Amino acid sequence: MAKKEVVEEERSAPPEIANVPQHVAIIMDGNGRWAAERGKPRTEGHRAGAESVRACAEACGDLGIRYLTLYAFSSENWKRPKTEITALMTLLERFLKSQTKEMLKNNIRLQAIGRITDLPVKSQKSLHDSIEATADNDGLNLILALNYGGREEIIDGVRSVLRHIQDGLLDEAMLDPQIFSKHLYTRYYPDPDLLIRTSGEMRISNFLLWQISYSEIVISEKFWPDFKREDFFQAVQEYSRRQRRFGGL
Ligand code: FPP
Repeated sequence: MAKKEVVEEERSAPPEIANVPQHVAIIMDGNGRWAAERGKPRTEGHRAGAESVRACAEACGDLGIRYLTLYAFSSENWKRPKTEITALMTLLERFLKSQTKEMLKNNIRLQAIGRITDLPVKSQKSLHDSIEATADNDGLNLILALNYGGREEIIDGVRSVLRHIQDGLLDEAMLDPQIFSKHLYTRYYPDPDLLIRTSGEMRISNFLLWQISYSEIVISEKFWPDFKREDFFQAVQEYSRRQRRFGGL
């Protein structure tokens, strides 16, 4: 019997990019349409989308990007049919189980933002296991936004501020954008420099409303399952050509 050859997947060298962002956030859109175009069920689109997650995380690591935040399940996604929600949660659990080893190999630290305690217990368990297993990695921080909504996050932030004021830990007069940021789920991360949305849609869809105030936005016409390593590099190159002025001149 022929010996089975283990071939390491060939990765293209990352391009030279003058200005690499520190934090990239992605609205992964178009899984359903990708599947519909192929006469497949929507869940197949999500399954194919998980492969793009892997490819983009790898590309991020290769460019030396420090943070990648992915909109994996929004607060509004609960409105979808129960079968699709279950499929998405199962996919998440499988992804975490199968990719934790890969994350360890690639020095990726997994994190999550959102109202995590409202997710199915099994999904929470897989999430905690992967977060714990990768906690000591110091390469890319891969942040999954799950049961996440920007408005909900701001409300949770306001609640946290009020509690701190009531407990005498914060002086109301001191409250400013910098202090408020420390009450958000994203308090440990810098704001995204670049926001990518796939599938040509030009909407923010309740994603990181506070944090994207000065992010550069790149829209890709591709559906998320078709958005791969080279597309990611292209988006970062487009970002690198932009001039950011943060309200100045
Ligand atoms: C949007 O496409 C995508 C989602 C709501 C879910 C994103 C989930 C994945 C990419 C699956 C894998 C993720 C992880 C972290 C394992 P859509 O369904 O709204 O597409 P449509 O607009 O074409 O209907």
